[in-house]
Amino acid sequence: MITCSAPGKVYLFGEHAVVYGEPAVCCAVDIRTRVSVAPADSVTISSSLGTTGIDFETHPYVSAVVERFREIISLEGVSIRIVSEIPVGSGLGSSAAVTIATIKALDTLLGTGLELDDIARMGHEVEQRIQGAASQTDTYVCTMGGVVMIPQRKGLDLIDCGIVIGNTNIFSSTKELVANVAELNESFPEVIGPVLSSIGMMSTVGEDLVNSKDYVSVGKLMNINQGLLDAIGVGCAELSSFTYAARNNGAYGAKITGAGGGGCMVAIAPREHVDDVAAAIAAAGGEAVVTEATDIGVREE
Ligand code: PMV
Repeated sequence: MITCSAPGKVYLFGEHAVVYGEPAVCCAVDIRTRVSVAPADSVTISSSLGTTGIDFETHPYVSAVVERFREIISLEGVSIRIVSEIPVGSGLGSSAAVTIATIKALDTLLGTGLELDDIARMGHEVEQRIQGAASQTDTYVCTMGGVVMIPQRKGLDLIDCGIVIGNTNIFSSTKELVANVAELNESFPEVIGPVLSSIGMMSTVGEDLVNSKDYVSVGKLMNINQGLLDAIGVGCAELSSFTYAARNNGAYGAKITGAGGGGCMVAIAPREHVDDVAAAIAAAGGEAVVTEATDIGVREE
């Protein structure tokens, strides 16, 4: 049996603006999805959602990966088992992580010799097939790990402080939120255009601050980024409440991560304050997860 894992991700800066060509900074976090594969006579895929064969309703990403491998190598059967710490549909990159970990696990089992770039590319193709449209961000960061500026694919220094994620457990549709921002931008281009450029500038200014480990300043920029995300209509009461709870309990800064409208927020904090930050988010009604940045992308366990 072979087990491979891949990490989730958060955005330090730049979601939504990245859709308009602005830079964003993403960070792989040490919440992982593990995929184990073993030879078998037929295809079985098991996860917390149940056990199926190739099934595009229950296990769309893994089913698409198996079909993709069948285009390059003979593959009758395989037993695939998924165990994930990444909450589904919360903007933390759960679909990219299961896709990338499955590709690496099958690559290792079948000896197809894929390089990391091939894995990221195949993962992006699979996400596109299942989602219709998908940015390369999640699959790239999850494959490579670390802190990455997108679309330049430039590696930044690893974040060396605590990271706390607050999940609203409110479903939000990335597609819908991206469409809402586009509509706002069409109605008020003179207003929204500069807001999106300012969000992009946050990544440019943030790059040096991340590399010099100036987390006080990174946190301040995250707070400004949060204000601008609110301004383009992707916030919600819960996300605001969790970001204030985090900031009032020792975080350097806190903001939405991902599409917004629900999903998750992220705070960075000195390690001695992460428990206070997590407790404050929980007291405000969120599900808090304390984690760290990781430079370990997809890997065999
Ligand atoms: O919520 P997520 O992780 O799917 O992130 C969405 C990020 C956006 O910038 C809003 C869209 C995108 O494709 O980059």
